[in-house]
Amino acid sequence: MHNDSVSPVPPDPFTPLIVAHARMLKCVESLRDLLHAPWSAASAAAVDACLSAHIAEHHRIEEEDLFPLLIEASVARDKLGRMMALIETLTLDHRDMERIWLQLRPAIVRVSGGRRAVLDSFLVDCFAALQVIHVANEETVLFPLARTTLSGIQLAALTRRIRRGRGAVHSV
Ligand SMILES: [Fe+2]
Ligand SMILES: [Fe+2]
Repeated sequence: MHNDSVSPVPPDPFTPLIVAHARMLKCVESLRDLLHAPWSAASAAAVDACLSAHIAEHHRIEEEDLFPLLIEASVARDKLGRMMALIETLTLDHRDMERIWLQLRPAIVRVSGGRRAVLDSFLVDCFAALQVIHVANEETVLFPLARTTLSGIQLAALTRRIRRGRGAVHSV
């Protein structure tokens, strides 16, 4: 029997993003392991697949689905200045991470194809540090702010959009 008095718990669109962060940070640890141990083609290929998918899909979801919605909602709630500054910082982080990944990836691809390569430890450290800081900023500042900025309807729509469009990819 259906009980109309029990409201369903509203979906949280940030849960899949947080799951993707955790998965990506594990891949970053695997990337750091490549600095200290002999590489296998399989381990290099796994790191490449994980981080390439995350960078392509996760950044796109945040920049196309999440950030514009937050800016729109912030206007109505008088939080626009704070939200714009936060989103600008996070978007610049994305561009920096993409640039560093473009420099790191050729060596990883070479090893995944059975050839030899040297990984730049400074770049790996920069990439790892930036990812950790970025994820912390999103999970402790942006997502809590977003939960208090977006309406229930907007949160539900965002959840549907993230779930609907991303079923075929490995990472959000
Ligand atoms: Fe991000
Ligand atoms: Fe993120």
